[in-house]
Amino acid sequence: MKTAIGIIGLGVMGTSISRNLARNGFSLSLYNRFVKGVEEDVAQKKINQYEELESALPFEDLKLFADSLTSPKKILLNLTAGAAVDHIIDQLLPFLTPGDLIIDGGNSHFTDTENRLNRLQSKQIFFMGLGISGGEAGALHGPSLMAGGSEDAYALSENFLKEMAATTAEGEKACDYVGSGGAGHFVKMVHNAIEYAEMQIIAELFEVMHKGMRMGYAEIAAVFEQWNKNEFDAYLLDITIKILKTKDEKGYVLDRILDKASYNQTGSWTLIAGIKDFHSCSMVAAALFSRFNSNRSKAFKGLSITQQEDVPLKLEVDQLRAVFRFTRTVNHYQHFRLVEEMSEKAGWNIDLQKLCSLWSAGCIIKSKLLVQLSPFLENRLGPFFDPQYLNQLNSDRSSVATLITETANTEIPLPCISAAHTYYKQMTQRKSSANIIQAQRDFFGAHGFQIIGGNPGDLHHYPWER
Ligand code: 6PG
Repeated sequence: MKTAIGIIGLGVMGTSISRNLARNGFSLSLYNRFVKGVEEDVAQKKINQYEELESALPFEDLKLFADSLTSPKKILLNLTAGAAVDHIIDQLLPFLTPGDLIIDGGNSHFTDTENRLNRLQSKQIFFMGLGISGGEAGALHGPSLMAGGSEDAYALSENFLKEMAATTAEGEKACDYVGSGGAGHFVKMVHNAIEYAEMQIIAELFEVMHKGMRMGYAEIAAVFEQWNKNEFDAYLLDITIKILKTKDEKGYVLDRILDKASYNQTGSWTLIAGIKDFHSCSMVAAALFSRFNSNRSKAFKGLSITQQEDVPLKLEVDQLRAVFRFTRTVNHYQHFRLVEEMSEKAGWNIDLQKLCSLWSAGCIIKSKLLVQLSPFLENRLGPFFDPQYLNQLNSDRSSVATLITETANTEIPLPCISAAHTYYKQMTQRKSSANIIQAQRDFFGAHGFQIIGGNPGDLHHYPWER
């Protein structure tokens, strides 16, 4: 008997996806590499461990694995991004025939996906870069799926991808074709950048409440709970509430976690992509650099900024709620703009409204905001999505300014919150200081400047030291 889908890589994501597909009635072939003493009989062990995988077929031999699949063969890779993906594709190719499909479900860089796509196209093998979000629980119960590549490839896999995906509040499946080439992995990368900044904003607000306002974990959790219930319905806030409530016989688990953040590559990749496109990605930059900076340099050992007096900061939790609303709107705006601009350049034609729907369920950044933003994303992005949001931002902005002022002389850094505030000021100020920059450039390098009211292409030079 041949099976419907082949899964390669049985780490956390691969295993959860396999269980999800099996529960949805798809017959599976499971492959995991053999590494003596480290990864042995992995597929068989997963089958023994999980009831729903009972009828799946286990493999450690790629030829037998490929032979076990119905034609056209559909193979989903769940591997660490990078060389491992190319390696397995090379190994698989001899066992595939034109019309078969390989789906890369890892967090691959979108340009790698485009190279693989081109390479496989010449062999008439379909290839798809599939962004999968939702972590382990999402993969198991319904992730958000962002497919990129050829529409024909998507057509071959749509039925099983939709079955395993999450369902949005509107009853749609959080699974869709987002565009050609590397578009699927590109939007997943940007999703992760939004994730980085939103995590950092929550962490900053936590620090303000805990250190600055002397609130206990339970009290902070109660405030976040109230916000989430009444307004945000954000997954990342929800898990933070759960984290703040988690206690065992040794006390709060959070108190035992070292304050040094780790990271993979998607945050850096978004920043690099933004910079290459001359796009301001200050929110993900602030979040990423905060992770880097949490590994504090030894050069600063023993130094500390003036500590705040032993009086709590004069802030209201409602002001912090306004800060959360303000900063996450800026965060989403910067990244939707990046998608819009890059999509236009690459010809991906990514539909921002569709993206909102895909990100409103199953994924790490799911929240009510994505549902609220959707109506404003039908055509091109307006200023901060829509004048309605601009009004909201304007009224929330003073709370951000108060928070920044109140914490200025404390040891609480607010990189992401400050980045949002600075970006907002720069986007809305009537006149910037860039005339000074232009004058300096012209002074030392005769680079020329544009005259107020002049044609954009006309550059003028002034003989400054005449
Ligand atoms: C998701 C997550 C997932 C991964 C994070 C972690 O959407 O399910 O984004 O892809 O767990 O990207 O990334 P870092 O290790 O860089 O924090």
